[in-house]
Amino acid sequence: MPNSPYQHPELYELAFSWRNYKKAVDFISEAAALAGLAEIRSMVELGCGPGQYCREFARRSVVSYGVDLCPEMALYAQKLYDEEKLPGYVLEADFRRFKLEQPVDLAVCMMATFNLLLTNEDVVSHFGSVADNLTGGGIYLIELPHPRDTFRADSCTENKWEMEKDGLKLSIDWASDSVTDPIAEIDRGTVRLTTTEDGVTRIFESPEAARRLGLGHLKALIDQSGRFEIAGMYGDLDVNRLFDNTKKSWRMIVLLRKRR
Ligand SMILES: C[S@@+](CC[C@H](N)C(=O)[O-])C[C@H]1O[C@@H](n2cnc3c(N)ncnc32)[C@H](O)[C@@H]1O
Repeated sequence: MPNSPYQHPELYELAFSWRNYKKAVDFISEAAALAGLAEIRSMVELGCGPGQYCREFARRSVVSYGVDLCPEMALYAQKLYDEEKLPGYVLEADFRRFKLEQPVDLAVCMMATFNLLLTNEDVVSHFGSVADNLTGGGIYLIELPHPRDTFRADSCTENKWEMEKDGLKLSIDWASDSVTDPIAEIDRGTVRLTTTEDGVTRIFESPEAARRLGLGHLKALIDQSGRFEIAGMYGDLDVNRLFDNTKKSWRMIVLLRKRR
């Protein structure tokens, strides 16, 4: 898709640079240990974008892979791997069907990337592929919006914000115009990145589609795939914040254990 934010990896990276990746990786490691994965020797980040999470794991001597469908993004993340000489690599592939060179202990899919699986068939195929690439007892952690967001009961997240770096101003509008197709359960909107640098303004616009996925639906698809069982749920990237409907629980983080 021309002008997709994923084709502009530096802008994408700046747009989401408010996140604390070190803290997130501490959480993922702790939550995986609580779900029974005592040691993480290898991992994969699915729909990795610039690979912030897989690169942070790699810095901690975990052999780490990234999988991304967008060639520009995969190339960019690989360049960052190469610059730091990190263990692992980035694979340009579709996370509905991919094959790593060896099974890994942990898979993660962060920041609602899972919602880019638009149909039940996509999700079940994805679960099968992830399970095939996990070691026995391996853990798959998925970060999703809280159901309050999904069902628009109350918004937990912003879809317009601004960032700045080295004189470049970036305004992000992440599909604030989105309209829901209630039959397909898909939100369709426009992602708009506006940059201003040296008095010159540029606009990058592209359509974005994301699935609305509630917990009951997700559980049914996990059961349909037959490959995983739920091993933990959190409402934030914090092991002390269990998943519930309080304000502080603002994400839906699901840990799945591969069935033996
Ligand atoms: C919202 S970004 C998230 C990137 C990263 N996980 C993060 O947290 O910053 C979604 C990424 O998923 C990738 N993607 C979308 N569909 C995909 C698919 N079917 N297979 C693999 N990657 C996909 C996009 O190219 C993009 O880089």
